[in-house]
Amino acid sequence: MEFFLDKWSCAICHHQPLIMPEQIVILDFGSQYTQVIARRIRECSVYSTILRYDTPAAEIAKLNPKGIILSGGPASVYAPKAPHPDIAVFDLGVPVLGVCYGIQLMAHFLGGKVESGARREYGKGTLTVKDKTCPLFRKLPAKQQIWNSHADKITQLPKGFKAVAVSENSPFAAIEDRKRHFYGLQFHPEVVHTQHGRELISNFVHAICGCSKSWNMRKYVDQAVEEIRAQVGKEKVILGLSGGVDSSVAAALIHRAIGDQLTCIFVNNGLLRAREAEVVQEVFGRHFKIKLQYEDDSKQFLQLLKGITDPEKKRKIIGKAFIEVFQAATKRVGKAKFLAQGTLYPDVIESVPIAGNPAALIKSHHNVGGLPKGMKFKLVEPLKCLFKDEVRQLGLELGVPKEIVYRQPFPGPGLAVRILGEVTPARCEILRNADSIVVEEMKRSEWYYKVWQSFAVLLPVRSVGVMGDERTYDYTIALRVVESQDGMTADWVKLPYELLETISSRICNEVKGVNRVCFDISSKPPATIEWE
Ligand code: XMP
Repeated sequence: MEFFLDKWSCAICHHQPLIMPEQIVILDFGSQYTQVIARRIRECSVYSTILRYDTPAAEIAKLNPKGIILSGGPASVYAPKAPHPDIAVFDLGVPVLGVCYGIQLMAHFLGGKVESGARREYGKGTLTVKDKTCPLFRKLPAKQQIWNSHADKITQLPKGFKAVAVSENSPFAAIEDRKRHFYGLQFHPEVVHTQHGRELISNFVHAICGCSKSWNMRKYVDQAVEEIRAQVGKEKVILGLSGGVDSSVAAALIHRAIGDQLTCIFVNNGLLRAREAEVVQEVFGRHFKIKLQYEDDSKQFLQLLKGITDPEKKRKIIGKAFIEVFQAATKRVGKAKFLAQGTLYPDVIESVPIAGNPAALIKSHHNVGGLPKGMKFKLVEPLKCLFKDEVRQLGLELGVPKEIVYRQPFPGPGLAVRILGEVTPARCEILRNADSIVVEEMKRSEWYYKVWQSFAVLLPVRSVGVMGDERTYDYTIALRVVESQDGMTADWVKLPYELLETISSRICNEVKGVNRVCFDISSKPPATIEWE
């Protein structure tokens, strides 16, 4: 049910932890790879924070960063509205690494020259290191594959700088002013196609900035527990538990911090998969001993959906009913000052509004505008500086079962988006049974954790079949199995025929009401992942 909870409120403010870890600040100039830089740094066991490109140097200084990275970006440094940093960032006395657009900013603001390249240099290249004593290239080979994506190029270095590596197209592929600890890379060290990119970033954060390897999930638990206690005091906290990764991990973490001051509300909307309600009650109620208020409103939801076939209408009805049920449930918990949410870091990073940047849309998260009317809670968002895979690590650290930590995404409106046409109790039952077989066989064959999603869809189409000597006239199940990085684009997974055969024959034999199984071989776009 994360859909409803996570998008209720804006969490952009105060996303800096109260207790300051040793960190690297990344100034975001609009590159599609900025978050990847942040991830790579964290993989080096160093905390990283992404800030807007024009964050005042005085604000940055308050975070006491060990180093600063200027990200790439789509603009040209001379473009009329090109994003520029507060140039006082170069006076903070900490190492600075400029990446791609970032190196050009350095050259431009520190006294060098940048010119528009006649053509865009894009794709693979070879880097030749000229000065092996440069700490960025510590223990790295003299020749390595790199990934470029830029149009402008440096034509004259600022005073104090020298080239330490060259590429086919650039005599200034890597530059340094070792005295002032300024470094620049014309290519992208953060992307996987740059052969030694991880080591380059590790060299910057460890060898140049002097960061220790102190960022790990065990420490994060201690830090987050202290913060939650400091924020909440003796007040009560409510959390809407969906059974999904984010709300589950948030629940386990907050419970570790404040125990019985936390009450989780779990709403059964009648659109859950098989055993979902039982697993949540088992894991959180009995195992973690978290105060769990189980709201079985399945009859009410299914009643409201009677006769409704339009997918948007279904969503609206479910969304509205959920808010009402949740509001009523919070009242029964008693006076709570805080609402906890499993908001993640990518939800709170403000995208940079730069012309030409496809990511320059304000996140929908920010447009939703606060909690539903009448709900005056303060927010507790203990995952808001973590990426998804860090949340999974945190879940494991807290003892959340693998079954939940590595759960595939499940839409808030549940089976309603996987039953085409009218949602009825009988159709929910059929889909649940078919879906259980899909999950079981995907897990048995070890495909379940390799794919983004794998599920059954019930089509309200009946066709003729034959079972024994009898003709049947039953529903069709579509099998949807996709791989994806983020759900924005997806491709269908080429499952082995044997596995498809097992799933199909089990569904037709074991699920009453189904006599046909189809495999969806559409990618997204043009199709979507859910059928609706
Ligand atoms: P589509 O169907 O748009 O889905 O390709 C992209 C991803 O989003 C998930 N999804 C939802 N998740 N609430 C959610 O929390 C929703 O209402 C919702 N609708 C789609 C979908 O499962 C896929 O991973």
